[in-house]
Amino acid sequence: MSRGKSRSKSSQRWLNEHHSDDYVRKSKEQSWRSRAVFKLLEIDERDRLIKPDMCVVELGAAPGGWTQYVARKLSPNGYLLAVDILAMDAVEDACILQADFTEDHALEQIREMLDGRAADLVLSDMAPNFTGQSAVDQPRSIYLAELALDMCEEFLAPGGNLLIKAFQGAGIEELTKNIRGKFASCKSRKPSASRPRSREIYLLAVNKR
Ligand SMILES: C[S@@+](CC[C@H](N)C(=O)[O-])C[C@H]1O[C@@H](n2cnc3c(N)ncnc32)[C@H](O)[C@@H]1O
Repeated sequence: MSRGKSRSKSSQRWLNEHHSDDYVRKSKEQSWRSRAVFKLLEIDERDRLIKPDMCVVELGAAPGGWTQYVARKLSPNGYLLAVDILAMDAVEDACILQADFTEDHALEQIREMLDGRAADLVLSDMAPNFTGQSAVDQPRSIYLAELALDMCEEFLAPGGNLLIKAFQGAGIEELTKNIRGKFASCKSRKPSASRPRSREIYLLAVNKR
């Protein structure tokens, strides 16, 4: 059986949507590595998250659309550490770490690379490999979001901000409550590049206590 014939209806639908998607076309035209960049761009334009001389830690960075955008905004005086479990090509003015963020060793490597700097902003676009079963996918995605929140304890400066990808469903209220315990406020964002039928949202935690 050819690969085409073996595709499930949902993966075929994803491919169709992807190819006809305006954001995919725009990302190619503008040489961004992913359409995901338009999500961050919209949030950043609204909330003014990224400023030139910041120290930013980005989790779940591959293939690197967000990394390209943040690195350009920070250059030449800021510092960007981009982390992903997958290998990714170099991005000018970004430090890249290939590590599994669920492992303690990743935190040791981040500590080493930050070398005493405190982050002004933590971004997490991490998402697990989806199985299509929400009983499996939802807890995995919430777990990644909770880990991103936990790392702020040590690595994010007081007054700093955190933007995390999350999926609406079980665990999101608890996650929001945990964010509110550590930050002055927690806002929800659904940028236009985030597909309307996806449960994906971004939680913006402002002003770490
Ligand atoms: C939606 S993609 C990120 C897209 C990226 N923001 C961009 O603009 O190109 C999610 C990423 O999370 C990463 N990820 C998932 N689990 C991870 C983990 N345990 N540690 C590090 N990265 C992880 C995946 O490898 C994937 O590259």
